Amino acid sequence: MELLRYCTNLPKVELHAHLNGSLSDATVLGLLKTRTQRDADPSLAAAEVTIKKGHQRTLEECFQVFGILHSLTDTLEAVQTITRDVIREFAADNVRYLELRTTPKHVPDRMTKKQYMDAVLQATVEAMVSHNIRVRLLLSIDRARGVEDAWSTLHLAKDYLNHTVFGPLVCGLDVSGNPVCGDLQDYLPVLQAARSCGLKLAVHLAEVPSETEALAVLNSGLVDRIGHGTFLHPASGGSQALHTLLKDQNIPLELCMSSNVKTGTVKTPSEHHLGLWRKENHPLVICTDDKGVFSTSLSEEFVLCAQVRPIRGQTFSFCEEDLHSLSLSGVEAAFLSPTDKQTLRREVQQELDALKGKLASR
Ligand code: IMP
Ligand code: ZN
Repeated sequence: MELLRYCTNLPKVELHAHLNGSLSDATVLGLLKTRTQRDADPSLAAAEVTIKKGHQRTLEECFQVFGILHSLTDTLEAVQTITRDVIREFAADNVRYLELRTTPKHVPDRMTKKQYMDAVLQATVEAMVSHNIRVRLLLSIDRARGVEDAWSTLHLAKDYLNHTVFGPLVCGLDVSGNPVCGDLQDYLPVLQAARSCGLKLAVHLAEVPSETEALAVLNSGLVDRIGHGTFLHPASGGSQALHTLLKDQNIPLELCMSSNVKTGTVKTPSEHHLGLWRKENHPLVICTDDKGVFSTSLSEEFVLCAQVRPIRGQTFSFCEEDLHSLSLSGVEAAFLSPTDKQTLRREVQQELDALKGKLASR
């Protein structure tokens, strides 16, 4: 089997996907059609939203794109549609377990943050019935919105924990948003409170150089997984202290190669920090970040990582066994109970065993 087909067939785990950043062109076009009918608005084409292969956009420009996407998803109906579409598309890419994250939205006269989350959760329950995929939700704190907003997101998440249907689906909090806005140190009390009530924490960290902030967050000992961690390794702009903190706590990194290369925080795939951490056997999970905005899929991210030409003595070339162990490291880093993780591990392992020996030599 050639590489792309093989990676598509692999049973995969996606742990870092933002709902509104994951919209396919088909979904965006559908939303535009509804919007044009409703507002008679001569609107933008989907092509303006996604970044095609080989193209780039700065992080700042990406945040403008999120603004456009949010203006298309400002009704409860649209929120349900995008949730169903995104889960269906991940399932079609053979993602067996998905942790989807989203920032609860308040839109005056349209929806409260709770109504937004109810819509996402209801659509998730429905999508899981129709597709071969398990889904869990992380509520995102947007670091650009201030600490008060973060407390309200935490309270919302806490309220869900006692909900009979939605409670088991809410597994934690994400901290994301424009990395040059705000300071994560201000959010540590919120994260501490979240941990105290059993919520897991995935935090975007060092997506841009930010030594002081990263040190404070890692010193807090609160983080369960790190998004990007681009500037943590001493060979990619981090300090020895950051390296030691990460290694001592063995915190898995969620790596999103297309996202980093297309936004220019990493120059080329060969220079991606994946190689540095892999060489040290650090727990890594391959993820998409925003499959719509970056025009990718989890299978394509596996291919991209497997094909990177090694530099600086990094070991990138993946054999079949490496691809399997990357799938399984997603299982290990999942925010699931030990019993649910055991079930997922067994199912993924069975599928991997059935694929053994089928990757064409490269
Ligand atoms: P949403 O939370 O479902 O609305 O997904 C889009 C949001 O995710 C954006 O507005 C950002 O706050 C966040 N996001 C997506 N990609 C990134 C990233 O690479 N870095 C930081 N935040 C991100
Ligand atoms: Zn992200």
